[in-house]
Order: sequence, then structure tokens, then C-alpha cells
Amino acid sequence: MKPIVIAIDGHSSTGKSTVAKKLAKELQYKYVDTGAMYRAVTLFAMRNNWLQNAEVDESKLVENLPSIEINFEYNPEAGTNDVILNGENVENEIRAMEVSENVSSVAKIDKVREKLVQTQKQLGEEKGIVMDGRDIGTVVFPNAELKIFMTASADIRAQRRYNELKEKGEDITFEEILKNVKHRDHIDTNRENSPLIQAEDAIKIDNSHLSQEEQFETIMHLVRERV
Ligand code: C5P
Repeated sequence: MKPIVIAIDGHSSTGKSTVAKKLAKELQYKYVDTGAMYRAVTLFAMRNNWLQNAEVDESKLVENLPSIEINFEYNPEAGTNDVILNGENVENEIRAMEVSENVSSVAKIDKVREKLVQTQKQLGEEKGIVMDGRDIGTVVFPNAELKIFMTASADIRAQRRYNELKEKGEDITFEEILKNVKHRDHIDTNRENSPLIQAEDAIKIDNSHLSQEEQFETIMHLVRERV
């Protein structure tokens, strides 16, 4: 079986990373969550007080980009990779609602994208990779052998995210999450640099009414046709 590149893009909270992790495990591929990288840069900006109410001090952040190092470290308990920001494991912190509220403002900065896209391209040089995000099939790997575009209704996405955060004990309402999901969709879709759009050759999967198993099987079928 020849290793391929699988690019999974789509709207916020469509379960991209859940299915991507499962695929990577099954195929023994590398998995890269690019949203986590944008979240780590956002956390870095927040900690330095360069971010208030989704307003970013862009020049400060860009000036300090060379001092941000993002790595992934295998977490045997979860069976996945944790995000390491300048040597510190920030996997839990980057998932907090405060980071979600600010991340799209950071992700629209050209220099931030330039830095992260360069790293992402390097990670995929040897193929055998599943990468999820917003611009993987359009910008990072335009030649990926398989491109998936995941979507689902905003209400269903917000409900899934709500259940997940409630389970983790976050004090949050469904309405706040729905607002955040719609807000991120809006910024991600309308930004000038690498907006969230379906690549021409991507296969769209609306998973509003699909189980995780059904999504996995649908994509595995497409993989088998390509390897
Ligand atoms: O995937 P996740 O929801 O964790 O991504 C967080 C945010 O990072 C997205 O809402 C988007 O603004 C940004 N992002 C991006 N390009 C990517 C991955 C994520 O702009 N490839």
C-alpha cells in the first residue's frame, strides 16, 4: 500500500479530528491537528496580553513569532498527540472556550498562517499523513490524494461541542457555543487569506445524521480506492 496524504477540511466542530484520529490509527499514519497549532499561537498571545476581546496586537505577535515553537508529543493514555508550546504541554488549555473565542482573529493574520503552513508542509513531506483544518486541501496540500470537506448544521455542531465541554466540566450555555460556532464560521469563511472553502476536488460529507462509525467507513472506502 503506498502512503497517501489525506486532507480533511470543514466547518468548526464537525468532528474532523475525531474521524482523522481514527483513520490515522487504522492506517498507521501520522495525524496533525492544525487547529491546535492556531490555538497554541492564540494562547501564547493571550498569555502576553496581546489579545483582548478578540482584538489582537498584531505587530507584537508577528514580531515575536520566531520565539514560538510548536511541537507534538505522543500521549500514550489518549493514543493521540498533545500540543507542546515552547516545551510546555498545553493540550488542555488550548481547548478552553476563551481560546475558541479568540482563535479566528489570530488565524487570519498572514504571517501567522505563513509560519504554520510552512511547518505543516514539512510534516507531510513523507506522506502517510492525515491532516485536518480549514485550508489543507486548498493551500497546504493542494495535491493531496484524498480531500474531504466536512460539514453539518450549526445547531448539531453546537450541541456536540456543548456535550463535550459539559463533560469536561466547563460552565457554558448552548447559546454561547452556537454563537461561537457561527462566529468562527463567519470569520474563517470570509477572511482574505486562505478562506475556508471546499477544494474543487474535495468530497463533501454532511455528517449531521451520520454516526462516527459511518463517517469512518465512508472515508475508509475512499482511501481503499486510492492506495
Ligand atoms: O479545528 P479547530 O476548530 O480547533 O480550529 C480552531 C480555529 O483555527 C478555526 O476556527 C480557524 O479559525 C483556525 N484554523 C485555520 N486554519 C486551519 C486550522 C484552523 O484558520 N488549517
